[in-house]
Parts: sequence; C-alpha cells; structure tokens
Amino acid sequence: MTGLIERYRARLPVSADTPVVTLGEGSTPLLPAPRLGAELGVELYLKVEGANPTGSFKDRGMTLAVTKAVEEGSTAVICASTGNTSASAAAYAARAGLRCAVVVPEGRIALGKLAQAQASGARVVQIAGGFDEALTAVRALCERQPITLVNNLNPYRLEGQKTASFEICEELGDAPDWLCIPVGNGGNITAYWKGFEEALASGEARRPPALLACQARGAASLLRGPLDRPETVATAIRIGRPVRREEALDALSRSEGRAVALEDRQILDAFRRLPAAEGVFCEPASAASFAGLVQARADGTIPEGARVVCVLTGHGLKDPDTAIGEAERPRRCGATLAEIEQAVLAG
Ligand code: F0G
Repeated sequence: MTGLIERYRARLPVSADTPVVTLGEGSTPLLPAPRLGAELGVELYLKVEGANPTGSFKDRGMTLAVTKAVEEGSTAVICASTGNTSASAAAYAARAGLRCAVVVPEGRIALGKLAQAQASGARVVQIAGGFDEALTAVRALCERQPITLVNNLNPYRLEGQKTASFEICEELGDAPDWLCIPVGNGGNITAYWKGFEEALASGEARRPPALLACQARGAASLLRGPLDRPETVATAIRIGRPVRREEALDALSRSEGRAVALEDRQILDAFRRLPAAEGVFCEPASAASFAGLVQARADGTIPEGARVVCVLTGHGLKDPDTAIGEAERPRRCGATLAEIEQAVLAG
C-alpha cells in the first residue's frame, strides 16, 4: 500500500531521510455519478474522500504534518476541530508514537469522530464554545508549550491536501470545468487551488477549474463576512471566522468561481440523495458540495453539459445521528416468516 507521500514524493517537501508516517491515505475513487449527473444535465464525478483511512480528506494533510513533526523532533501535536481533524490527528499521532490533544466544541461534534479520537488515545478536551474559540486557544497554547499545531495553519497540511487535485487531473486528463467543494476554515479549497495551479504549471491540466465554494447559510463566512455565531446541521463546517478566508476568496476570484450559501434543508436533501441514487454515503458537510451543484444548476451558474467534480470530504458513518434522524423508521415485526414477509413486501 502506497501512501500519498510515496506517490507524490517529488512534489512534496520531503527528503529521502524523512521518516514517513502513513496509514495508506490518498488515491481515493473519482467515481462517475451517471444517475445524478443525468438528472442535473452534467457529467458528474464524486471524489470520495471518505475512503481515506480515518474517513476524511484530513488524512492527506495529516500524513505530511505528522511526518514533518516527527522529522523536526516534536513529541506532541494538538488541534482544534469540528471533528475530522481530531480523528485524523489522533490516528496519525498514535501511528507515530506522539502524544495528541484535541480541543472540540462540546455537543457539536458528530459521534463517530469523537469515538475515533478517543479510540486512538488522544486527550479529548470539550469546550463550552465553538471551533473558532477552540482554534484561538490552541494557537496561543502552542506559543507557550512545545506542541506542534496540526490545524491547517500548519503549511504541511495544505501541501498534503493539494494532492487530491493531482489525482483528479490524472484521471480526467485535465481539470474539470467546475469543482464543488464545502468550505469551513478555508484550508481545503486553498489546497485544491494550489494543486490545480501546480498541475497547470506541469502541463497535467490545460486550464483551471472554476471553484464553487459551498457553505451553509448559517456559516456563510465567504458571502456574509466573519460571523460570531455560526450555526448549521453540517457541524464539520460550523465555522464563523475561517483563518484562510482571504486565500479562499482569492482562489475563488482567480478561478472565476463563486460562493454559495445553502439552507440546511438543501444540505440534508443532498445528504439523502447521494447514497440513495449513487450508493455513496457521505456526511452532511460533504453533501453541501452536491447541494451547491444543484443550486448552481438551478440558477444557471453551472451550464448544461459541464464536467463537474463534487468533493465528498467525509464518510457518512461519521455522523450516524443525523443519518438516522433523516431516515425512514425501520419496520418492526415478530420473528415468524409470515410477519417478516408482510413487513418486507407490504407497501
Ligand atoms: N468537510 C468536512 C467533512 C470537514 O470536516 C471540513 C473541515 C470541511 C469540509 C471544510 O474544510 O475547513 O478546510 O474549509 N473540518 C475541520 C475539522 C474544520 O476540524 O475537522 P476546510
């Protein structure tokens, strides 16, 4: 199994002596979505980042951030997180034998993510506040203590995450016309843009994609400006003051893209449609990319026939509570064949 540092060694800041920490991340499926594509009148692909080792795209950045932390002699890492970064940091730290602490908003982190961070032995600290407060605190803590910050302020995170653009260009033979991507703290969209720019420079892409930055209306920091009380069912992107807001906006304007703000209902509809129509189960924040596409088709931003990639950033199993809340109730019956037959077949 080759991790992404091995696969893209020449384009990443590592040397032959760098002690690579990997869980076999990257090389995720770029899955054609013919049914939903036909419904929307586009050539649609899903970049299934839930197929990474801890179930989200964070692993692309974390393999490099933790590798460099080890190389630089660090013994402990820390992050603020809405969940996925904490799950990834905890796993890669465990793999590397580093100590790990994660600071998360109490009650606003999906169940699977909390379980992952705990399972890998991280010190989990839940605060009475949101992601923005958690990040401010861990940044200050890293100035007082010899601990490496592995949020996306850590430049190695973006270096690792840019590799998703390389994979897309390799498979399509070019960049897509549009790339729809959920935005929280602004790191991933910045990393994708960097990757596409590098793919252009190396001739792997002929032209850049337009980026569609997808946010929940209650956390639409790109369109509305920094927010003090972000709110959305998509807890992964419940962020009001993204640290990479300026870079995200810059990527949007240079790509001639757009930001969209989506109602929670639109996100939840997309969250239901993806697994039902294509068998791909992602978490609500990830479904925002598809919800954004639906809206951009409705208002004409994305033209008919466009080649579109939706980045599905995290696995659906991360947030079982929301999935069960949105699903039809299971039928219940006795254990006899007659009862089960009736329950299976009755309309
Ligand atoms: N999708 C998912 C599933 C995420 O977990 C995140 C961010 C994003 C999209 C947005 O990416 O922040 O780079 O713009 N999650 C972070 C975390 C904040 O702590 O796990 P971004």
